[in-house]
Amino acid sequence: MGLGNILVGAEERTLVEQVLQSRSLNRYYATDPARPPTMVATLEQEFRAITGARFALAVTSGSAALECALGALGLGPGDEVILPAWSWVACWTSIVHLGATPVLAEIDETLCLDPAEIDRLVSPRTKAVMVIHYQGVAGRMDAILERARHHGLKVLEDCAQAPGVSFGGRRVGTLGDIGIYSLQHNKPVCSGEGGLLVTDDPVLYERAVRMHDIGQYRAPHAAQTPARVPSFSGCQFRMAELTGAVALAQIRRLDHMIAQCRGLHERVATAIAGLPGLRLRELPDPAGIFGYELYYFVPSREIARTFTERLTQANVNCGRRTGTYPHYTFEYCHTGNDHSGRLPAFVQLGEWPAAGYRAVDFPRTEDLSHRFVSIPLGVAYSPDDADYIGATIKRLSRELVG
Ligand SMILES: Cc1ncc(COP(=O)(O)O)c(C=O)c1O
Repeated sequence: MGLGNILVGAEERTLVEQVLQSRSLNRYYATDPARPPTMVATLEQEFRAITGARFALAVTSGSAALECALGALGLGPGDEVILPAWSWVACWTSIVHLGATPVLAEIDETLCLDPAEIDRLVSPRTKAVMVIHYQGVAGRMDAILERARHHGLKVLEDCAQAPGVSFGGRRVGTLGDIGIYSLQHNKPVCSGEGGLLVTDDPVLYERAVRMHDIGQYRAPHAAQTPARVPSFSGCQFRMAELTGAVALAQIRRLDHMIAQCRGLHERVATAIAGLPGLRLRELPDPAGIFGYELYYFVPSREIARTFTERLTQANVNCGRRTGTYPHYTFEYCHTGNDHSGRLPAFVQLGEWPAAGYRAVDFPRTEDLSHRFVSIPLGVAYSPDDADYIGATIKRLSRELVG
């Protein structure tokens, strides 16, 4: 459908071949001391340049990046993290793994966190807000940062679905305290599995490095900023050089992909803007979107279902690119369990699912997440494809909602 995996080609092959020839498959160990491994380090360096972040760290997945970010922030038992109910499984599981408590919030018509939810949900235990920039669009970062700062909360930006996206001229991931990305197979830039983390804060960087490398802080990292904090028990989430090679080839195409997708999105959005009964997803910063998936809302879930069927019949792909569902629809949320059944996240809540973890507690998320139609776009699409999509939506909307 035109994201990173479709573009795998000569650039990836060249860099992978370089790693194989060097026989140094681990970023920290050189088989030939004259030729230190460079792929993961170069990936981090180029990603810093792309995002403008002071530090970048490559890890094994977006989920690992989330755990490193939460660990860097020092989150643990007794702490609460506010996150949108409409987000990816790992957004919840990473919090639970650290023994902290996910507190679910409503989304708004951006399909990202509603900033007003921070005031509603904050408690003396709240330590951080996790913002998910859903499918290539930044949330309302000005209001989110303002409310979070007001309450003294840290902001973790999950940019797994929004690499390279910007808000107010700055790349997402660099607006809050720490940002993460995923390089998993279905992402705009991908290496099968993989993740990245960025921050401007040297202490958060060092703690994230220690999280990802069993508590260690090795020389290449200390060369960027000296050690300041004591070691602790970390995980092992180090990225391999082969993964780094593929990821490096992919991030070098990022801005080109964004320009193409944004152009396609603009073309379809212009064609369908203002149609009666059809509302485009709100874009807090339209100039900064990725554009690889266009969303619009229709008046009811029945119309959304029929619209999707009719678009499919007309050969317009409208299958969602993510498996995102509200957390309260999943079994892990219904049980409130972690792997042991003993982590303290939900113990104090007693009966389960407790208030705040049931569909009935999220009328707006329930409504919005059932009333949208999503249109994947990508570098495999041509301007003619975009025009066909726009014209088809226009025709069907006259019939179904007009
Ligand atoms: C919003 C969000 N966060 C985190 C992740 C986790 O990334 P990964 O699959 O690389 O672990 C994903 C993956 O789909 C995601 O969509």
